[in-house]
Amino acid sequence: MKFIATDVSDTRRKMVDMATTQLDRQGFAIDRYFYRSHVTYEAELENIVFKSWLYAGHIGQLANNGDYFLLELGEDSIIISRDEDGQICAMHNVCRHRGARVVEELSGNRRAFVCPYHGWAYGSDGALKRARGMDQLAGFSRADYGLKKVRFEVFQGMIFINCDPQAADFAAPLANITRQLGAYDLANAKVAEAKTYRINANWKLCLENYLECYHCSSSHREYAKLHTLQAAYEKVKPLNEAMLARAEGVTGVAGIADKYRAYYNHASGFGTCSYHSRYALYDGVKTGSENGQPVAPLMGHMRGYDGGAGDFQMGPLTFMLNYPDHCVLYRFVPRSLTETDMTLVWYVNGDAEEGVDYDKEKLVWLWHQTSLEDEYIILRNSEGVNSRFYQPGPYHPEHESTCMEFVSWYLKTMARIAA
Ligand code: FES
Ligand SMILES: [Fe+2]
Repeated sequence: MKFIATDVSDTRRKMVDMATTQLDRQGFAIDRYFYRSHVTYEAELENIVFKSWLYAGHIGQLANNGDYFLLELGEDSIIISRDEDGQICAMHNVCRHRGARVVEELSGNRRAFVCPYHGWAYGSDGALKRARGMDQLAGFSRADYGLKKVRFEVFQGMIFINCDPQAADFAAPLANITRQLGAYDLANAKVAEAKTYRINANWKLCLENYLECYHCSSSHREYAKLHTLQAAYEKVKPLNEAMLARAEGVTGVAGIADKYRAYYNHASGFGTCSYHSRYALYDGVKTGSENGQPVAPLMGHMRGYDGGAGDFQMGPLTFMLNYPDHCVLYRFVPRSLTETDMTLVWYVNGDAEEGVDYDKEKLVWLWHQTSLEDEYIILRNSEGVNSRFYQPGPYHPEHESTCMEFVSWYLKTMARIAA
């Protein structure tokens, strides 16, 4: 679904009323309106996306002073850089003169960001250094026109940003998963690969698909052979209990299997989701790979394969799936009403060398494959929900429970917006 005609009768009043009505229909998927309304999409950016904590990148991408990379979200672009003093900075990629993007290349190294339009020059920290002809003007001060700052938080080497200056603190919610995530020593890990899949569907369809594994047995044959998450919990309970009993002993990491659950409505602040659970792989499976066997050296502090995988959420749109030998980060970023960037980042041990310790093709195989399968079903889903004959059906209370949690948080947020 690439293009949706504008509904000229759509308003914020209608959006709020729809969200309020829909809240009474908990347990059912949401109306097609929420996937088609331009008014809603704009309100989502303003009230959800730009107010939430979101993974931007890893400190390994900023190894040297002057290194930078861009994060593109919605119609916006954010620069994350390491300045001349070695400090990390995050700022809007919008010139303070007449608004041109100051940098177009997605990553690089710059001593200065020089706007291509009239040549205003900013330092790698965003401070305005030169504005030709302006300094002589009465009342003009360069200090007033630095690139606008974006809040950020670095957690175990991962840089998270939030465009809302009043955003709730993220450090404390993340601290609750320090031990579990710390097992992988991500601060010293290496980004082995990152891929962005542009999905031609609304961001909520992509996210809802990620949040449930009801579709796993029918859509992801390879995945389903390895991970117990695809099965009803009662059925795989003994496998999970056995894994949980041996996890600390085998991995050598105290607290690795501790559950922590504070997401969506249960988060301590808006957009500060933080979650961890460890679940079992099937007997004999060590990791998420084509044959279930290791594809890289053990991560960080891990001492062995316990037959488990760590499932994490950090903020409403960022997730991680961590195996003893590699970690896979998932991030969902809306780019338009009908386009979503689904980015996957594969991490390996910082000392691992490509071609020697791991084969990149083998490392990415499972989740690349699974992502293509997801893209296929998300696109089918998008076509179907956009039909005027679509009538939302019931969620499965166990297999789609996280979807329901998301939808409830989403609707409550939308219903609160001033009409
Ligand atoms: S818009 Fe950037 S210098 Fe004019
Ligand atoms: Fe999937």
